[in-house]
Amino acid sequence: MSTLLQINTSARAAGQANRLADDFVQAWHSQHPQDRIVLRDLTRQPVPHLDERTLNAFFTPPEQRDADLQAAVCLSDELIAEIQAADVIVIGVPMYNFGIPSTLKAYFDHIARAGITFRYTANGPEGLLKGKRAIILAARGGVYSGTPQDTQSAYLRDFLAFVGITEVEFIYAEGLAMGDEQAARAKHAAQACIQHLTAA
Ligand SMILES: Cc1cc2nc3c(=O)[nH]c(=O)nc-3n(C[C@H](O)[C@H](O)[C@H](O)COP(=O)(O)O)c2cc1C
Repeated sequence: MSTLLQINTSARAAGQANRLADDFVQAWHSQHPQDRIVLRDLTRQPVPHLDERTLNAFFTPPEQRDADLQAAVCLSDELIAEIQAADVIVIGVPMYNFGIPSTLKAYFDHIARAGITFRYTANGPEGLLKGKRAIILAARGGVYSGTPQDTQSAYLRDFLAFVGITEVEFIYAEGLAMGDEQAARAKHAAQACIQHLTAA
């Protein structure tokens, strides 16, 4: 039995990226009904931006933290335990102003912890979230994949690799703001990719 972690990041609950992530998870469930599915809903429960207290807590060894500093790492610890327990991570990611939603950036800031999800060695950084697979459902108003403007995909790949997740697949639904025909084509193509990846 595997555990699938779905991460919703759209600003709107019924956002296109959230819906694509739902579609993926539903298709996955029909192929792997025994798998456990966990939802981290950053749309409804966004995590806060990193602040001074939380960063201080990150850099204070557990045995030296007082109750206040310990409380400051609780959410990060919970998010890390959740992703550590996952085998497959499914993230619905809309493009907002050429980047990822700030909800997802804040989440990443909470799960990147030195000594826990990555460490530096003489050879450079080593990701510690190993043996996982990530699927990104990317919803966009325009068409950017494969162009230099798509810094979003490169950033996602880089961040996930940094924490050890190197098996990353993207499913794009692009051009959603470019007329009904293009939107329908994009959604159809995304659904075909979902079926293909979940059947594999
Ligand atoms: C605040 C905001 C910023 C956006 N910025 C971009 C952008 O930079 N590039 C793009 O292709 N689409 C952009 N879009 C369009 C969205 O990527 C597109 O509508 C996508 O389907 C939104 O996903 P969502 O429904 O899950 O929020 C933007 C939409 C919003 C609401």
